[in-house]
Amino acid sequence: MKMEKDYHYIQEVLSPDFVGKRVKIRGWVYRQRNSKKMAFIVLRDGTETLQCTGKKDQLSEELFNMLCEVKYESSVIIEGNIKEDNRAPNGYEMQIENFTIIQMAETFPIQKDQSDSFLLDYRHLWVRSQKLTHSFRVKAKLLQGAREYFDQQGYVEMTPPIITGSSCEGGSTLFELNYFGKKAFLSQSAQLYLETLIFAHQNVYSLTPSFRAEKSRTNRHLAEYWHLEAEAAFLDLNGIIKFEDGLVCAMIHKVAQDEPKALKALGRDPQDLLNIEGPFDRIHYDEAIDIINKKGVEIPWGEDFGTHHERALTEDLKSPVHVTHFPRKIKAFYMKTLDGKYAEANDLLAPEGYGELIGSSQREEDINVIIDNLKRDGSKIADYEWYLDLRRYGSVQHSGFGMGIERMMRWVCNLDHIRDTIAYPRVMNRNTP
Ligand code: 4AD
Ligand code: MG
Repeated sequence: MKMEKDYHYIQEVLSPDFVGKRVKIRGWVYRQRNSKKMAFIVLRDGTETLQCTGKKDQLSEELFNMLCEVKYESSVIIEGNIKEDNRAPNGYEMQIENFTIIQMAETFPIQKDQSDSFLLDYRHLWVRSQKLTHSFRVKAKLLQGAREYFDQQGYVEMTPPIITGSSCEGGSTLFELNYFGKKAFLSQSAQLYLETLIFAHQNVYSLTPSFRAEKSRTNRHLAEYWHLEAEAAFLDLNGIIKFEDGLVCAMIHKVAQDEPKALKALGRDPQDLLNIEGPFDRIHYDEAIDIINKKGVEIPWGEDFGTHHERALTEDLKSPVHVTHFPRKIKAFYMKTLDGKYAEANDLLAPEGYGELIGSSQREEDINVIIDNLKRDGSKIADYEWYLDLRRYGSVQHSGFGMGIERMMRWVCNLDHIRDTIAYPRVMNRNTP
């Protein structure tokens, strides 16, 4: 990172080249303490933190007093010399020679050991915390890794609509809105729109918010999450599964390479992620049911997995695993039917019990089967006429998937609760700040 020459980023000055050099840095007071003879400030900017010390006998009285009185989160400019110091957390320290307060903060409301709900009320300030800072850096790299992979594989990024007129994933989790006096919905998935776009671009993807009015309070459901979806023409289930394996590896390897410090701070060893290689194992639904039951978590054939089933299946694993061929009747109307009984579909589950990362399938090509499925679900066929047109004009074999970015984050960052994967988590009882 380069900046106008008057100032340096902290990350830049943490280097042997800067030892003995006088530089100016600016940011926010992250920690402050002082003794009679010394003042310590840990400064945070957008890149790093740096311990800065001011000695009373080397500074004017006015300047030393300012260092002692500055409040947490004040915005400041510090000028001084960089020293190597093996007691400092990152090996360097600054000896303060000049100090300017841009804005003296009021007493910062967030102190130690505050409750989760307090921290959510003050989310607009808590986003400055180290935990969330690390988490969002990881997220940025996961997304960068994904975009690079899609680009390499010849996928074109699309920008599908968020306001929609028909449901993709069933009515029970739809957010309804008043659209100029007519009923509309917030998108649950861009899939149906991406399907329309393969006929022009063949391989497409999108990153959009998706909305689910989930009435359950869990540590892995958000009402608004970031959905990375892809759709590809002339691809079957096997092909899309292979693509998913490549994508997941590209994303986690990118993070491990570019943000090892953030990962470590969150309690994830980057080497664990580098050790994960595709292709991931595939387990047929029937076999998965056996494994889960043998683990003592009961589940009858024909039921969809809940959190505890997925945990039983994956808690001892080190790599993600695909569960394929779920029973047709529990899956969405657009999935291809196999032998009348199964769906040509797969869920990719994270290891260590973190649960579903990806929902995916080969799409049904037979217009009559789709119509029957829609009727089964009680959907209005008229709402899907535009979608049925895709089976009338140049229909081809095709497949696609959707990945929950915050689900990936929970696993990759070792986070207990999905709220720490997103700046402003939207859950049942909260939509502010
Ligand atoms: O399995 P889902 O419902 O599949 C679809 O929406 C397909 N139409 C996607 C497609 O084929 N284009 O959702 C996909 C993924 C899940 O695997 C999960 O990772 C994530 O979206 N997800 C959620 N993440 C956070 N909070 C929620 N409430 C989520 N619901 C689904
Ligand atoms: Mg799913």
